[in-house]
Amino acid sequence: MIEVSSVAAALLLIGAATIHAATKVSQADFGKMPDGTPIPIFTLTNEHGLEARICTYGGAIVSLKTPDKNGKMADIVQGFDSLEGYLNPKQPYFGALIGRYGNRIGHARFTLDGKVYHLPANDGPNTLHGGNKGFDKVVWTARQLLDGGLELTYVSKDGEEGFPGTLKAVVVYHLTANNELKVDYTATTDKDTVVNLTNHSYWNLKGAGNGTILDHLLTLHASRFTPVDSGLIPTGELRPVTGTPFDFTKPTAVGARIEQNDEQLKLGHGYDHNFVIDRSGAGLALCARVEEPTTGRVMEVETTEPAVQFYTGNFLDGSFPGKGGHPYPFRAALCLETQHYPDSPNHPSFPSTELKPGQTYKTTTVYRFSVKK
Ligand code: GLA
Repeated sequence: MIEVSSVAAALLLIGAATIHAATKVSQADFGKMPDGTPIPIFTLTNEHGLEARICTYGGAIVSLKTPDKNGKMADIVQGFDSLEGYLNPKQPYFGALIGRYGNRIGHARFTLDGKVYHLPANDGPNTLHGGNKGFDKVVWTARQLLDGGLELTYVSKDGEEGFPGTLKAVVVYHLTANNELKVDYTATTDKDTVVNLTNHSYWNLKGAGNGTILDHLLTLHASRFTPVDSGLIPTGELRPVTGTPFDFTKPTAVGARIEQNDEQLKLGHGYDHNFVIDRSGAGLALCARVEEPTTGRVMEVETTEPAVQFYTGNFLDGSFPGKGGHPYPFRAALCLETQHYPDSPNHPSFPSTELKPGQTYKTTTVYRFSVKK
């Protein structure tokens, strides 16, 4: 028995070494929380030089460096040079893990098993991104994995931000040999609850701080989206994108139609909508491809989730000095938040976000980086 398990362990190690042999991980100090809790930052580097830096505050992706078509590296996510910037409660979730319920829950309440749960209303009358102190504003516990991954764990107490059940969330970041940032999310609960986890990175493939994303070419493998009301809560309709400015089924510049006189664009102040991914079955499906014509950088997003929130940074206003002191103005970045639909707990017709004791919530999103010469 002992022999079998050591062989299995050895094989696992060999397997892991084969897949992630050249992923190096190093740890440094990123600062301290007001109560003195130290916040480490981890740097993951793969064999091609792709580099991701992730801190334990909010589990945030602080920087991600990828090459352009000439091999020139740039940091393509918005954020701050130091922890202080991240601690500003008004900063809009830069790079962070989002939970327990990513996106909005209408009227800050939902009913589960016949009981009404009241949540903090932190976005007009609605709850956004898990409430006042969502998973973006907590300190995660980090563990470096033997295969080069970084595991982050957060245990959310029963009743935290109004949600039922002790929820143990585990997120693992990997950089693969194929120039992918792979994010695996799992969660378990001790009472029936709702869960919708995502990452809120703000991308600009020119390099964050270098203008807007209006010229980025976007493809979304989504032939339907969920129209919203004035509070950005889905009406329940799944509307075909055909013939609307929401049709990104062919590569289209993000800014090509963003100023059109379209009711949904007006409500979102641009794109801030949930797109339903076209998929032929369960598992990873390609949901988005973004290409930046001047640098040639390409990002493809695959996910096991049913949807993706496409947000064009419409609430960015340059009021935060970001990395190197650069402000991030209106539409300086785009977000592709892979997720279940917003407000699902109040829409029985949407794919369910309920999690019960004994079940494991499990989703994966992969961001793949390449260049078009
Ligand atoms: C999400 C929302 C947006 C906005 C940002 C954060 O993407 O859909 O409306 O709240 O988060 O500013």
